[in-house]
Amino acid sequence: MQEEHSEKVACGCEITHEDWEMIICRCEEVTRGAIINAINHGATTVEEIKRETRAGMGLCQSKTCFRAIQKILSDVTGQPIANITPYTSRPPVRPMSVQELASLVDQEVEN
Ligand code: FES
Repeated sequence: MQEEHSEKVACGCEITHEDWEMIICRCEEVTRGAIINAINHGATTVEEIKRETRAGMGLCQSKTCFRAIQKILSDVTGQPIANITPYTSRPPVRPMSVQELASLVDQEVEN
């Protein structure tokens, strides 16, 4: 019989071996255990979990993992899901040439 390995953390929940194996954020390979651990270390929002674990900072920009992270935060802290706000939206930034920028001004002048 396989022995169940788990650790009790300050928030009162247990982080099991399965939690450490369960990938929640596939882009950054962040596990459920890492997210619960971040909450245990004081993270109370998805932004704080993101800063602690990088969950949500991957290529999909949390489109895949946000709901799961939100649910874990709700389960562990007891906050209603409706009270957990999403990540701050930061549109992708790409370099722009001065010529492109100048053409935008020209378009505004014409209008
Ligand atoms: S799965 Fe988390 S950022 Fe893509």
